[in-house]
Amino acid sequence: MASHAIDTILKEQRLFEPSDEFRSKAHIQSRAEYERLYKEAEENPEGFWANIARELHWFKPWERVLEWNLPFAQWFIGGQLNLSYNCLDRHVAGARKNKAALIWEGEPGDSRVLTYQQLLYEVSKCANVLKSLGVKKGDRVAIYMGMVPELPIAMLACARIGAPHTVVFGGFSAQSLIDRINDCGASAVITQDAGYRRGAEVKLKEAVDQALPQCATVQNVLVYRRTGCEVKMEPGRDHWWHQLMETASADCPAEPVDAEHPLYLLYTSGTTGKPKGILHTTGGYSVGTYITMKWIFDLREEDTFWCTADIGWVTGHSYVVYGPLQNGATSLMYEGAPTWPEADRFWKTVEKYQVNIFYTAPTAIRAFMRLGEQWPRKHEMKSLRLLGTVGEPINPEAWIWYREVIGRGRCPIVDTWWQTETGAAMITPLPGAIATKPGSATKPFPGIIVDVVDREGQSVPKGAGGFLVIKKPWPAMLRTIYGDPERYKQQYWSQIPGMYFAGDGARIDEDGYIWLMGRVDDVLNVAGHRLSTMEIESALVANPAVAEAAVVGRPDEIKGQAVSAFVTLKAGQTAGEELKQQLRQWVAQEIGPIAKPDDIRFTDALPKTRSGKIMRRLLREIATSGTVKGDTTTLDDFSVLTKLSGDEE
Ligand code: WTA
Repeated sequence: MASHAIDTILKEQRLFEPSDEFRSKAHIQSRAEYERLYKEAEENPEGFWANIARELHWFKPWERVLEWNLPFAQWFIGGQLNLSYNCLDRHVAGARKNKAALIWEGEPGDSRVLTYQQLLYEVSKCANVLKSLGVKKGDRVAIYMGMVPELPIAMLACARIGAPHTVVFGGFSAQSLIDRINDCGASAVITQDAGYRRGAEVKLKEAVDQALPQCATVQNVLVYRRTGCEVKMEPGRDHWWHQLMETASADCPAEPVDAEHPLYLLYTSGTTGKPKGILHTTGGYSVGTYITMKWIFDLREEDTFWCTADIGWVTGHSYVVYGPLQNGATSLMYEGAPTWPEADRFWKTVEKYQVNIFYTAPTAIRAFMRLGEQWPRKHEMKSLRLLGTVGEPINPEAWIWYREVIGRGRCPIVDTWWQTETGAAMITPLPGAIATKPGSATKPFPGIIVDVVDREGQSVPKGAGGFLVIKKPWPAMLRTIYGDPERYKQQYWSQIPGMYFAGDGARIDEDGYIWLMGRVDDVLNVAGHRLSTMEIESALVANPAVAEAAVVGRPDEIKGQAVSAFVTLKAGQTAGEELKQQLRQWVAQEIGPIAKPDDIRFTDALPKTRSGKIMRRLLREIATSGTVKGDTTTLDDFSVLTKLSGDEE
């Protein structure tokens, strides 16, 4: 964490008001209405959230709304509910029984629709399958799948019986799977033979087979058949999804769980050590995802909503699965790569299903900008009404392109800031109420109290950069880091005492609009995915050729940040192109292809302070511009730097 303020360079003046047409039909229709809600929530947060919670089904009402022992929160204490019930049974009992819950588009072009009734049927059967495999309330289940309907089915089945799930992104390696399974002690794994990506197969079951010899807690593996590729099935341990589903009963009433019953764990990168298991519980997370979905995406009964995120990330949890389904919406899921088989796959899909609300990441938008306007222009996309972004700051140029080329100047854009830890969107326009500025996530959601402060927790002046903090608990907040409450306290609530520190820099302008300025810690944001420099470094150092490694981010036009690695080798190793390729492959295997260093520089030594700390700031400068202009007074050995700068690729 840098010592005080952060310099800001971005100045953006344009302002886009929602059209009268949009406003008149919106849930929240004016700035005044937003201000009123915001004030109401600020003055009486418990009353505000309780009113929203009442829109969901509770088997037993709560006794108290909030118990707050900084930094540990409990919401809706004494209340009992079930998220799968709120996503399914509630709708099936009414007019939405035969409404499409999930519309799924496979990469090869196959397509499936599951109505609420059909989804409930599948989820209930799957829940019974899990029970038959001995999965009980409280047991952890790891889900390692691609984007197939069986992934949300598996999640909802876990939620139905009160077994917390941990979804591991299908792009992660066997090693990542091992770390996550062992951290949470999962007793079952749900996977599939393989998934489709860019016309090729991603062999998921094979990675599970590689992982399991090192995962003592796993007793059963449920395998969904997607591609039909050959897989090894270990008798007694591995079971085919289709075989067990065939005979399972479709009668499985949702198990009422306490509001604070763990719903899921999702692993995310922190600054140090292994990935952290972010723990979300049932009641607060349900309330947060339900209402943000409704107000931010201004959901209407007839909408088709498409969030392009993979369910392996929090965005997919909250806005492909739980947010839309609690609202009885139609959620579109797409299996494969955005540009497969051609660069207009997304736009073709928008047209095919008449998508109304489209939510994606800035990195995708920048990639599409580069591919050219001709691809989206081939499609009318008249159905689009609202656009959203998430995952990293969006540069104004990409924002404007998104607005003009995808939204045809007609659709408001909601730039939503949030994190795995926050569970639901936190800073975002409400599209009928807040005029937007390209590059700003605008205003906090009602009930969310944020500020931009210095290291001591003092608000910085308007326009000045500082650290983004959240000052009051909110229902969808993480409860802890699984198995490590001390780290939870340290990481989030101690750096700026008494406040939740998100790890992002930000500034607030004269109109009270918030501008995110990226991470201020050693976390990279590569193509909207959080990666810890620390984890990539440990992966590199685990290679027998490597002595020491330092990883930094450098700006990248498409991915936001690229991964730059500085590596010193053990004696007898030869630096060269071949080893570079080997190391990149190595990292892909240890963590996953997204973590592969974009460039690797071999060096005799790393620049360190006299106390032995690697001077990442200098490495960042070298990675970005090839030279160092900043202050080097604390550098222990200056010659290191000269050599490093000279060794440009
Ligand atoms: C970044 C994704 C600017 C931020 C939901 C945050 C953003 C991290 C935005 C969380 C945004 C996310 N503007 N930055 N609209 N949305 N971020 O946990 O650095 O994968 O801390 O959650 O992404 O990433 P995570």
